Amino acid sequence: MNIAIIGAGAIGSTIARILARNGIQASIANSRGPQSLTALTNELGPHIKAVSAKEAVQADVVFVAVNWDRIPAALKDLGPWNGRILVDTNNAVEVPSFKAVNLGGRTSSEAVAELAPGARVVKAFNHLPAAVLDADPQANGGRRVLFLSGPDADAKQTVSDLIARLGFAPVDLGGVNEGRAVQFPEGPLTILNLVKFD
Ligand SMILES: NC(=O)c1ccc[n+]([C@@H]2O[C@H](COP(=O)([O-])OP(=O)(O)OC[C@H]3O[C@@H](n4cnc5c(N)ncnc54)[C@H](OP(=O)(O)O)[C@@H]3O)[C@@H](O)[C@H]2O)c1
Repeated sequence: MNIAIIGAGAIGSTIARILARNGIQASIANSRGPQSLTALTNELGPHIKAVSAKEAVQADVVFVAVNWDRIPAALKDLGPWNGRILVDTNNAVEVPSFKAVNLGGRTSSEAVAELAPGARVVKAFNHLPAAVLDADPQANGGRRVLFLSGPDADAKQTVSDLIARLGFAPVDLGGVNEGRAVQFPEGPLTILNLVKFD
């Protein structure tokens, strides 16, 4: 399974770091081209390769971790996705005010899915601050919980398996609508740092 990350800021680089720490190969892209990511790839080591966004989007699983107002530009011209998995790590907020963006009643993942025709969208890796995500997932005698949600059971299973392989406890909330529970800032589960005891 090929993994890529579009967006190399706080969340994108944290996901890359977690993958590298677990010995998993991935590629990472931003808007400025692979050369601009040399410092990051030098830090993260040989598992993480900088590529263009057009290369990144060919992976089987593509994390999208881009500021909300820049997602349309980031996903423009990258389709069709032909069933590949898009992991939506994003929150529909204005930065730096963190005011919720008016989505006209849609979930944030529905808004992302509209920009990625043919993608199987799984919402995950979005409910914790980057620094908490980066911390050891084994905490207080349990495994840190990462929520996921989305309409495609197979895609969710793939992401759930990856979450577990990274040492976290996956908790499937259900479909697109249930994803509202982790929609920042109003979702009741957002920023909740939970551990699961097996
Ligand atoms: N920060 C957190 O703790 C946190 C927690 C949970 C969820 N999130 C969500 O994760 C997403 C990313 O947040 P962040 O904090 O990681 O933002 P960030 O640090 O500002 O990083 C954003 C990244 O997106 C890239 N980008 C922007 N436009 C692009 C384009 N057209 N094509 C490809 N890449 C592009 C930027 O690269 P360039 O340098 O090329 O512009 C940058 O690497 C947001 O939706 C946010 O709501 C953040």
